[in-house]
Amino acid sequence: MFPRDFAWGAATSAYQIEGGWQADGKGPSIWDTFCHEKGRVYADQNADMACDSYKLWEKDLECVKQLGLTHYRLSLSWARLLPDGTTQHVNDRGVQYYNKVINDLLACDVSPMVTLYHFDLPQTLQDQGGWKSPGIATLFDNYAKFCFQTFGDRVKLWITINEPYVCAKLGYEDGIHAPGLKEKGISAYVVGHNMLRAHAMAWHSYNCLYRAKQKGAVSLAINSDWFEPLNPGCREDIAATERALAFALGWFAWPVFVTGDYPGIMRSAIDAESKKLGYNGASRLPCFSKDDPAILGTADFFALNYYTSRKVKPGGGCKQVLAMSSDRDLEEVIDPSWPICGVSWLAVGPHGLRNLLKYIKDTFRNPAVYITENGFCQVGPVHIEDVQRCEFYKSTILEVDRAIQEDGVDVRGYFAWSLMDNFEWADGFSVRFGLFHVDFSDAALRRTVYRSGKEYAKIISKHKTGKWKCQQLAKKQHS
Ligand code: BGC
Repeated sequence: MFPRDFAWGAATSAYQIEGGWQADGKGPSIWDTFCHEKGRVYADQNADMACDSYKLWEKDLECVKQLGLTHYRLSLSWARLLPDGTTQHVNDRGVQYYNKVINDLLACDVSPMVTLYHFDLPQTLQDQGGWKSPGIATLFDNYAKFCFQTFGDRVKLWITINEPYVCAKLGYEDGIHAPGLKEKGISAYVVGHNMLRAHAMAWHSYNCLYRAKQKGAVSLAINSDWFEPLNPGCREDIAATERALAFALGWFAWPVFVTGDYPGIMRSAIDAESKKLGYNGASRLPCFSKDDPAILGTADFFALNYYTSRKVKPGGGCKQVLAMSSDRDLEEVIDPSWPICGVSWLAVGPHGLRNLLKYIKDTFRNPAVYITENGFCQVGPVHIEDVQRCEFYKSTILEVDRAIQEDGVDVRGYFAWSLMDNFEWADGFSVRFGLFHVDFSDAALRRTVYRSGKEYAKIISKHKTGKWKCQQLAKKQHS
């Protein structure tokens, strides 16, 4: 019982699949630099080649068609289009590549959802301060306008920035993602702030310059776990849960959807911690000034990346170190009934997606929601017959259905992460999220559908509506 024209998609990102890291005039990105340093990534792997989608795009398109997707979410490599990050120098061959991808998709009646930024900042911009520098917002806006201008006649669903939380926390607090900085308790907030400013500038540009003609929609993809109190009857655990949600989903969703500013819970927790530690000066969580673009209202839909759930209780305070973890002051617990799939952080909880969707409806004024990422991985010996992942997709999609039918959430689409196995950031190729297996030891990088891919294709074919259903029927009659 999915709504008419529900988007059935799968997602990838440029650095994780494309390879061709120096091909045809592409500039380096911070992930190229990061992976080429020793000790950063599992077994010192890198995505110089990855799935080689820069060359093998047509093989990816076969996978998209085999699943029967109505939508495909991809990201553009900023440094492939603008090698030094600025519009002073455009790499035409990069433009040609994405034109082909977009045109091929449309020729198969698959709608592209395009992410402008999925973790891979041009290295030249990093050298000028990267996301810590306030000037990055204007540079991003110029890049966004270039993309709207170049591809917006055909792309109608845009994501400006993927997971600002992950970029800020893993890149600048934990140092496990590029650019690998560990500037605890300070830089992640600055980076998050500049990402919000950059996103808002790009949204306003689209709104003023392109919307009337191109008639598309723009948002940013916000990731969050679902959090629930360890002891639902305990007031402290309930408060800890509110804090957890404020520091994850709320950090970016509250400014965009509710007030134009950060959640009060977040600022007061950070400021109280600063006071405790004798940290003087302005709040570590930056304030929006009147010169900043208005943040409130800069999303045409809610884009949610959801993977896992946690139970929470207060962390016990008194850590005596400046860090986001001290500001959040939480202890996270995985319920023993939630199976861990492959990586330690991924406790599978499809129920959490339904709860999060309901929370979004109630907290963020019932927005249209696209689930822009959700998935399940394999580690170790590969099982093409990935029965567990089949169960995962079935139970997750059932929860989405319940969120729509029973809770009245306006969910417009679901994108599985990922179309195919790819470079899983610091875990390299050891962690596989694909609906298609990629044989990285084979020179041809053969793609083979997993059982879960077939299962997802069945679900899609059963639920497709609108123009996609008509085509499916026509195809059947024809054959
Ligand atoms: C990211 C993807 C990543 C996936 C699984 C998300 O945080 O957007 O790039 O591969 O999670 O870890």
